[in-house]
Amino acid sequence: MVQANRQLSDRQFRSLAELIEGQVGIKMPTAKRLMLEGRLHKRVRALNYSGVGEYVDNLFDKAVLDEELTHLIDVVTTNKTDFFREPQHFEFLRTVAVPELLKLPDRKSNDLKIWSSACSTGMEAYTTAMVLDDMVQAGRRFQFRILGTDISTAVLRVATAAIYNREVIAPVPAPFIERYFLTSRDRARQEVRVVPELRRLTNFTRMNLMDSSYPVDRDVDIIFCRNVLIYFDRDTQRKVVEQLCSHLRPGGYLLVGHSESMIHSALPKLRQVQPTVFRL
Ligand SMILES: C[S@@+](CC[C@H](N)C(=O)[O-])C[C@H]1O[C@@H](n2cnc3c(N)ncnc32)[C@H](O)[C@@H]1O
Repeated sequence: MVQANRQLSDRQFRSLAELIEGQVGIKMPTAKRLMLEGRLHKRVRALNYSGVGEYVDNLFDKAVLDEELTHLIDVVTTNKTDFFREPQHFEFLRTVAVPELLKLPDRKSNDLKIWSSACSTGMEAYTTAMVLDDMVQAGRRFQFRILGTDISTAVLRVATAAIYNREVIAPVPAPFIERYFLTSRDRARQEVRVVPELRRLTNFTRMNLMDSSYPVDRDVDIIFCRNVLIYFDRDTQRKVVEQLCSHLRPGGYLLVGHSESMIHSALPKLRQVQPTVFRL
């Protein structure tokens, strides 16, 4: 049996790294070379190439790239997410952000718009939906809609289906599991699904944060951009945050991941209200 060539030449690595940085914004230093070669291997086998080198050499053919870019993105991005990840953000939404947003004098309606801008498999969006719906059930008078966007079509398929392995709902409080998840009738499947009432309030679509404009409303109340900026270089971080802010309503909030509070230095018009919470 022929052993597939598992290594890239320096030239091939550099051109692939430039492509990824340019299209996805993700930094590809040499330290990530082994990881990249390893992860590409499955794709190389699926396409019957002799090795990663041949894969990269063919990638720059435009027809191949158009088809291949989504696969490449799935290979290089980290999709790790959780329900109730960084739970202080959801407590902040409940106790501060939503009450403050509903008090804004220029509000024309009580419809809140939330955007999870690197939503992965949708857990951030559905956690927000649970927390806000719980507030509504408790008597707060408002409606909300949640948009989830991501560059990876694979994660968006999961987000739209809203079907998860039972293990991943461990961080969800028990009363929320009861109210917001359906259990598969086939007990052996160990799967749960978000209830249709919350699925109806969420919408998922593909969007690249590197794009020069975003097809999203300009009066979003809360934008999540968590655990993705960290992969971008400083210039890209600044551009992305600036562009996201142009979609926030005055008084709206931007939430970033716990290791991303540095974006503050990039945007003086944002007020830091907590280490990872900013207000326009
Ligand atoms: C680590 S996950 C974070 C998910 C979620 N925000 C959280 O904090 O749990 C990072 C997500 O960013 C997405 N991503 C990476 N580059 C992107 C880009 N240029 N535009 C949009 N999404 C991107 C990845 O596909 C991945 O789903």
